[in-house]
Amino acid sequence: MAEDLLPDATGIARAAALLRAGALVALPSETVYGLAADATQDSAVAAIYTAKGRPDFNPLIVHLPDLDSAMAIADFPGTARALADAFWPGPLTLVLPLKPGHGLSARVTAGHATVAIRLPAHPVMQAVLQAAARPIAAPSANPSGKISATTAAHVRAGLGGRIAAILDGGPTPVGVESTILAPSADGTRLLREGAIPREVITPITGPLITDTTPGARVEAPGQLASHYAPLTPLHLGGTAQPGEIIIGFGPMACALNLSENCDLVEAATRLFAMLHQADAMAQSHGAPAIRVAPIPEMGLGRAINDRLRRAAAPRA
Ligand code: TXA
Ligand code: MG
Repeated sequence: MAEDLLPDATGIARAAALLRAGALVALPSETVYGLAADATQDSAVAAIYTAKGRPDFNPLIVHLPDLDSAMAIADFPGTARALADAFWPGPLTLVLPLKPGHGLSARVTAGHATVAIRLPAHPVMQAVLQAAARPIAAPSANPSGKISATTAAHVRAGLGGRIAAILDGGPTPVGVESTILAPSADGTRLLREGAIPREVITPITGPLITDTTPGARVEAPGQLASHYAPLTPLHLGGTAQPGEIIIGFGPMACALNLSENCDLVEAATRLFAMLHQADAMAQSHGAPAIRVAPIPEMGLGRAINDRLRRAAAPRA
């Protein structure tokens, strides 16, 4: 079973030592928990794919402590540098062309000529990155295709038997994953809606190239139709049926409420924990389904709806 680590000097040093030794450690970030490994060690990176049951075509995000280390391994075309200056450290991932001599395991990028890079703002993750002094590959710390983890308990329930340690930094504050952008000389593509809403990105990038741009194909390789899936079938909007577990938004009768006062920031923070909770309730009561009230398609609502549409999609 995974070792429990506290977010103090001892826990941070232990997490860094385990990572340098090639082990898997779950770490808190401001978005969701990440399943971390040394991105320069083939066997450590391979172990991430095995522990998650992740398809090997789906590349990983590399987490770095500062801009200098990012500029050492990747080029910054188009609006990349302006985006980094505006949002790093923070919940933004940039997909950038790899530089020669980058030193990363080829498994991190799944054979792509680009690498996804993020500089997290969470103080515990930052401390581990600095102590480990290695680029750290970290996908979300959930079994592939399942609900993301926003607490150490979620990580333990999903992956506890398969990893060396879990560093418990408390619930993750933002609650949805980073926004993923691919800047280039021809414009900036939005690969995944996330914690930084479009509205604050476009003043820097101009109009984003998205999946609704004619002729564009912009989804990240890991954005599978079914993802974030509870065991119980999930429906988005529509009419409640008898026995369903209702997750509400705004004032209404429901088992769980993402935000009584329609606050999308609060709803994002609660989203994955409420999906885990609703799934446990549905399983123990024999409920036929989970139904989630409609969420406005604006601000963080876009990232929330992206997760809910995938959670509702027919399972692979
Ligand atoms: O907030 C987050 O981003 C969290 C925390 C732990 O940092 N991480 C996370 O990782 O969400 P993951 O593996 O669940 O999602 C990473 C996404 C996948 O959809 C993957 O396909 C995409 O990033 N990705 C990684 N490298 C890429 C690349 N070179 N080109 C395009 N997409 C890439
Ligand atoms: Mg994920």
